[in-house]
Amino acid sequence: MVHNDYIPKLAHILEIKEEVGGARPIKTFRTQFQNKNDFSFRCGQCAMLSVFGKGESMISISSSPLVKDYLQFSILKMGRVTSALHEMQPGDIIGIRGPYGNGFPIKDWKGKNLIFIGGGIGLAPIWSVLNTALGKKEEYGDLTLIYGARTSKDLVFREELEEIKKKIAVHLSIDVEESDWNEFVGFVPQNVTDKKPSPNNAITITCGPPIMIKFVIKALEDLGFKDEQIYTTVENKMKCGIGKCGRCNIGSHYVCKDGPVYSWAELKKLPQEY
Ligand SMILES: Cc1cc2nc3c(=O)[nH]c(=O)nc-3n(C[C@H](O)[C@H](O)[C@H](O)COP(=O)(O)OP(=O)(O)OC[C@H]3O[C@@H](n4cnc5c(N)ncnc54)[C@H](O)[C@@H]3O)c2cc1C
Ligand code: FES
Repeated sequence: MVHNDYIPKLAHILEIKEEVGGARPIKTFRTQFQNKNDFSFRCGQCAMLSVFGKGESMISISSSPLVKDYLQFSILKMGRVTSALHEMQPGDIIGIRGPYGNGFPIKDWKGKNLIFIGGGIGLAPIWSVLNTALGKKEEYGDLTLIYGARTSKDLVFREELEEIKKKIAVHLSIDVEESDWNEFVGFVPQNVTDKKPSPNNAITITCGPPIMIKFVIKALEDLGFKDEQIYTTVENKMKCGIGKCGRCNIGSHYVCKDGPVYSWAELKKLPQEY
């Protein structure tokens, strides 16, 4: 058969978990390929998910490559495709093509302290690399998570966060005061400034809304982090995912192939089109 990069592999949905309800709902989907597959991926890579008859969307793989039983995606309902995904039930079939993108250079980070900084659904790409580092904890220094959302109900992976708190430092925040909230109140960049992570032998990984990323980077610079120590992801709109359509580019870079992971040192050299 002639190879065609655009043909997805079929997968069925094993499990769906409602992470966040309300006006901006988020669900986590665990999927499994129908045929035994050779899908191997790196933390920070994405996949193009298709709902037949609706279209495709690029979504970060939120499970760790150490997990072999399923492939996980955490999805905010936005428009046509993500709404159709939110309507689906366990047992339903979707298409998956990929993996795409460069992923985090996690092998280069061995022996370093890793500081994960996320906002809202931005915890999804972080979740894969955080759980990989947790699974190989002896290979890294201290692990810290600074994570926030608008309200306590908007935090994703809430049950898992309680478990992770037993293993590493976790600093949560919400934007506005709530009566039974005992942690930080304010925006994520303010929590970074408050917790003062040390730049000593450290790498930070920050994902979330562009405005959050902008101010987190400023907070990290004020704490003495160098551009090479700060990693983030760029989520430009994508169509083909394989460097053919020109939808996602920043200057000469195709984010779907050369990104979506960049160090701040790399991003600074590109035109400010993200
Ligand atoms: C590399 C990458 C990784 C991503 N990872 C995740 C993830 O893990 N979880 C998740 O929920 N979403 C993720 N997204 C965003 C996701 O791809 C879009 O939300 C989705 O494609 C929207 O498709 P739709 O058909 O539901 O919405 P559409 O009907 O196409 O659009 C609805 C609205 O969403 C806006 N929109 C569409 N794509 C984007 C985008 N990339 N950025 C900002 N706004 C957009 C449109 O402008 C429009 O206003 C990622 C995007 C990229 C590029
Ligand atoms: S999405 Fe087509 S070139 Fe990147």
